[in-house]
Amino acid sequence: MSANAAAIRTAELTRRFGQLTAVDQLNLEVPRGVIFGFLGPNGAGKSTTINMLTSLLPPTSGTATVAGHDIIAQPLEVKRRIGVAPEGLSLYERLTASEQIELAGRLHGLPRDEILRRIPPLLELLELGGAANKMILDYSAGMKKKTALACALIHVPEILFLDEPFEGIDPISTRALKGLLREMVDQRGTTVFFSTHVMELAERFCDQVGIINKGRLAGLGPIADLRAAAGLAEDASLEEVFVRTVGAKADADDELLGWLTGAGRPAAEV
Ligand SMILES: Nc1ncnc2c1ncn2[C@@H]1O[C@H](COP(=O)(O)OP(=O)(O)OP(=O)(O)O)[C@@H](O)[C@H]1O
Ligand SMILES: [Mg+2]
Repeated sequence: MSANAAAIRTAELTRRFGQLTAVDQLNLEVPRGVIFGFLGPNGAGKSTTINMLTSLLPPTSGTATVAGHDIIAQPLEVKRRIGVAPEGLSLYERLTASEQIELAGRLHGLPRDEILRRIPPLLELLELGGAANKMILDYSAGMKKKTALACALIHVPEILFLDEPFEGIDPISTRALKGLLREMVDQRGTTVFFSTHVMELAERFCDQVGIINKGRLAGLGPIADLRAAAGLAEDASLEEVFVRTVGAKADADDELLGWLTGAGRPAAEV
């Protein structure tokens, strides 16, 4: 594979669930060594796309190459090169974080000594050190999420797929994780593909973004390009770009929702 080949390339990638087309002929290209933010409203098809790219879910039609390998013909080659923190966490709740991360490392063929050397600094970075020997069953939601992130990182993958990685993670750990990912990208040429709803974070953290809406790609590239494509000024925020690209929803209808918003009623009555 040539050094400048794309990290991820999809070709008419499609997934249907019965009548619903969750991902619709997606043509996406993500270069190596970038942080790529995958944005879209709830139900747009982000997780379905990530699940297909990581060989967790077969496409209905179309295909993709990830790290130079076809997701359908060479799923093991793909899995070897990627780290995944999927939306539905799949942790063994009766293991401790250390055991769960060790298991992830062993499944990737790492020697035990090496795994045990890597775990403590990773737990420290994620501020999980204190809970390392407690069963995952007793973790908070954020602690579980951090454990899943550590599992995705332990084997130093070429490409990371992180489905809403910062959701439920506190600001201190978010900052630490962002710093770590940025260094991996800059120093090693790692590619990070992540989904998020947090526009401020995406704006500051991503090199490129893709916007998906109702299963279709609505925008792709550096934020400045999307801003221009949406006809917005240079200082327009990513939130504005997103709303313009996806289509704004009208404000609450005071006729119909006055009972909730309190619009049109005297304060005492509300
Ligand atoms: N296993 C499934 N069976 C049936 N429908 C599904 C399944 N998984 C996803 N869908 C549907 O596919 C569409 C896309 O879902 P997906 O989870 O990919 O959205 P998303 O962009 O990740 O949304 P969110 O931001 O809420 O996480 C939704 O309409 C969802 O109901
Ligand atoms: Mg999702």
